[in-house]
Amino acid sequence: MAEVPALWGPFTSLHDVMAQGPLVIERAEGVRVYDGSGREFIDAHGGLWLVNVGYGREEIVEAMFQQARALTWFPSFGGFANPPALKLAEKLRDLFDEDGMATVFFSGSGSEANETALKLVRQYWRIRKPSKFKLIGRRQAYHGVTLGALSVAGIPGNREPFEPLLTQARHIPAPDHMHCPFHADGAPCTAACADELERTILFEGPDTVAAFIMEPVQGAGGVIIPPPDYMARVRAICDRYDVLLISDEVICGFGRLGTWSGARFYGVQPDLMTFAKGLTSGYFPLGATMVRAEMAEAFLEQPVSGPEFRHGNTYSGHPVGAAAALANIAILENEHVLEHVRRLDDPLHEALKVVGDRHPHVVADADSVGLLGRVELCGTPGGPSAVARASEVASAMRADGVIARPAGAVITLSPPLIISEADLLHVVEVMDRAIGTLEP
Ligand SMILES: Cc1ncc(COP(=O)(O)O)c(C=O)c1O
Repeated sequence: MAEVPALWGPFTSLHDVMAQGPLVIERAEGVRVYDGSGREFIDAHGGLWLVNVGYGREEIVEAMFQQARALTWFPSFGGFANPPALKLAEKLRDLFDEDGMATVFFSGSGSEANETALKLVRQYWRIRKPSKFKLIGRRQAYHGVTLGALSVAGIPGNREPFEPLLTQARHIPAPDHMHCPFHADGAPCTAACADELERTILFEGPDTVAAFIMEPVQGAGGVIIPPPDYMARVRAICDRYDVLLISDEVICGFGRLGTWSGARFYGVQPDLMTFAKGLTSGYFPLGATMVRAEMAEAFLEQPVSGPEFRHGNTYSGHPVGAAAALANIAILENEHVLEHVRRLDDPLHEALKVVGDRHPHVVADADSVGLLGRVELCGTPGGPSAVARASEVASAMRADGVIARPAGAVITLSPPLIISEADLLHVVEVMDRAIGTLEP
């Protein structure tokens, strides 16, 4: 029988781990993480897009400790609540009132937050208009790993091993100007990909379409930055056909674009928003699904006794998680972290542009918005593929002390939001050096 490691890591090659062992990170501080031998890395990926306030924040650890001492755990099922969950719900209502959100349902992760959103949408339309049940997502989208979230997601490799997925989901192209099926190379962008949503709704029949789900900027798909008016066009199309708009804010929320939500960055009010990751900066697993008041009101109108929404995770509204989120939000506010991100927007953008200009034969695109960056590599016919190059660059960067994450052919950057300008420019310099070692 083959030996297998005791720990089966997520999205991890067992073969690689068995051959090399995992890279064990033992401690972290600010934007830096350290392995067992004391080797230091700048984490330019924010521990999977999320350590927004940086590592080792005593304020959050202390808040969690105090909460764990007072009440480590009690369920929120069946009418119970706890003080930090109530306080966090009020805080989120204040923060996202500008986005039209009124009430929040807690869960334990981004996948669960999206699963909750899809089930809320399903039941909402069963109450209002039962013919509407189809969901539309986008190619290259990542919304999580549960079967519902995966069905509206669009990264082929993640979907294929589990097919057939749920059959009510349709997909439209991502607003990916590097691989645009709507324009000839070099033609100016007209955001025609947004109109594909309208064509798909009309093809399916507007009376059958329940919701469209999108990230303001697609993260795991390769930091796909849409044209500035794309999300507003999507909103207008959803309005025209009475289709709910779900904004997956798991990466974009809590400051990544310099605003509390990505939808706000693009000037749009969605119908539902989902959060996780930056909500606690990773200090505790927590997901949140927010909806407009009208949506919750529809549930209240149902002639049922007992729960109007028969859904919930054991750890919904975990007191320690809620305490972590409150302390995390306090740091974002008190340290003016969103303003800091807005200040770093230009320097990152400029630095990445210089990298693109210096390596025109291997870099196809270099771009950023807020503290989300992308450098897309190209392949050479008969030579290395773009994907192989991206993985080579990420490895070289790691050897040079910076952790960045390849997503297909794209090196993605998503550092802690508290990163200094000097560290940010150092990350880009290390990337530039790594790209410089590639054969043309
Ligand atoms: C946009 C987006 N939505 C949802 C998820 C799923 O979150 P989780 O891994 O916490 O289930 C992710 C995770 O990377 C994500 O990037």
